[in-house]
Amino acid sequence: SSSEAISSESLDTDLISKLPTREVQSERLFLYKNFWFRQGFVERIMLLQGSFKARHDDIILATNPKCGTTWLKALAFTITNRCHYDFGNHPLLTRHPQEVIPTIDVEIPLNGDLTCIEKLPSPRILATHMPFSLLPEPISIQGCRIVYICRDPKDAFVSRWHFVSEFFGEKNELNVAFNQFCEGISGYGPFWDHCLGYWRESITNSDRVLFLKYEEMMSEPVKFVKALASFLGAPFTSEEQDGGVPEEVVRLCSFKTLSGLNTSQTEVVQRGNVFVKKSAYFRRGEVGDWVNHISEEMGRKLDCIVEEKLKGSGLVF
Ligand code: A3P
Repeated sequence: SSSEAISSESLDTDLISKLPTREVQSERLFLYKNFWFRQGFVERIMLLQGSFKARHDDIILATNPKCGTTWLKALAFTITNRCHYDFGNHPLLTRHPQEVIPTIDVEIPLNGDLTCIEKLPSPRILATHMPFSLLPEPISIQGCRIVYICRDPKDAFVSRWHFVSEFFGEKNELNVAFNQFCEGISGYGPFWDHCLGYWRESITNSDRVLFLKYEEMMSEPVKFVKALASFLGAPFTSEEQDGGVPEEVVRLCSFKTLSGLNTSQTEVVQRGNVFVKKSAYFRRGEVGDWVNHISEEMGRKLDCIVEEKLKGSGLVF
């Protein structure tokens, strides 16, 4: 079939076997084009680069893992579908945000068959953890809008450590994973290079890339939900604002609401070929939880490294 032809053309497994590798928290990561990935992600990124067809009205939600993907998916879905559903009987009350918007580099099958994303009606909302430099070229050519969210690297590290520990069912050495994170070795890392790629693009191309920070959104969610709605081409009307719709969106998509749902406690969600407990995506949902897991000295060390790496870019955490 044509999809098999595509996959054998663009999936260079021989190349993957020659990439530098490191073991991080039970995960084998491969250094591909300056970023570290699990093998399945390298393969999916290659497949997407070979055959992803962007549409001009696609919206791409791009995130560094554990920086607020679940939240951003919930918000984007709710904002863009608000004329179809009422808040009392909303799909997000039963379906997990990860189920309503696919993450393309996690969920496409490794045989290269992209039907699952090609069959989606326009305008599509697609999520990705791919670094900006590795996005399939048609995304830029088509001028797709991109929303990126990042987060204090200390909280992102702690969140990721818990997530991966839960995933592998064992508590891995936090200190080892921390030192690797500081060296830039973590899934989709170096963390700072991931942020910088989108940050730079958001400066040169501000009407195409919206750059958000988890902490800022947590402190003023309504303001950012309004900005997000405008960027997505669905600004809130003055009637909606008077009626408190932006506040309703914030409430529905909040950590408190989503993590408290029965289904979030008991069900699993399929991510590619694995199943993950829905609850794994809702841990604390707080700013600054890192202090409960790593020492102040470790925090300062990571801050210094990140400050140095971001120097001159204008991006600060
Ligand atoms: P913590 O581990 O610090 O609690 P991602 O969705 O990118 O995988 O990121 C997961 C992180 O976002 C977790 O952080 C999770 O608790 C938090 N999170 C999930 N849903 C959220 C929401 N609706 N609002 C705020 N934070 C949320």
